[in-house]
Amino acid sequence: MAKHASGWNPSDDGINFHTRKWVRPEDLNANGSLFGGSLLKWIDEEAAIYAIVQLGNYRVVTKLISEINFEASALQGDLIEMGLTATHFGRTSLTMRAVVRNMITRKRILTIEKIVFVSLGEDGHPVPHGYSNITYDRDRMPHEHPGTGTIRLPSP
Ligand SMILES: CC(C)(COP(=O)(O)OP(=O)(O)OC[C@H]1O[C@@H](n2cnc3c(N)ncnc32)[C@H](O)[C@@H]1OP(=O)(O)O)[C@@H](O)C(=O)NCCC(=O)NCCS
Repeated sequence: MAKHASGWNPSDDGINFHTRKWVRPEDLNANGSLFGGSLLKWIDEEAAIYAIVQLGNYRVVTKLISEINFEASALQGDLIEMGLTATHFGRTSLTMRAVVRNMITRKRILTIEKIVFVSLGEDGHPVPHGYSNITYDRDRMPHEHPGTGTIRLPSP
């Protein structure tokens, strides 16, 4: 993908940045900058959605998040963007790499080399997903929706 004249690259190591967030007062820490916990929540949700689309299964859970180095931060009113890409399709797992950056300061906020999600069956145990490469379409999306009751949640 072409680099902008400013040097700001729309794609970072093959990662496309789809989700943007506006840093609001409730996302701040006592220092007045972006609270790390808010950012991690957004990333975990983003990774869950990515895994559902890639593995075609609503029942995916976070297994591992590798070391996180917060390189820069964001202030109230800043816009941040998050990008993910699949780096490894295992038998039941999917490993992703994440990058978050500040659209205002143009600084990288963090990189996470490994976020691992596992695909589960109805019994709550890992189930093979059968995929080995990235889809850029919606062809793996599950056709049923939990709201219809056609996907049963695991019993407590
Ligand atoms: C996810 C869970 C069902 C996996 O159980 P498990 O006994 O580790 O299952 P397995 O040993 O069969 O491993 C499943 C997959 O996870 C991978 N995995 C397991 N531990 C891992 C680790 N520490 N790092 C990276 N991958 C790991 C395995 O390699 C395997 O992937 P593969 O099939 O693609 O090779 C279980 O650990 C669990 O329920 N954890 C809680 C998940 C959760 O609730 N997350 C939300 C946060 S609270």
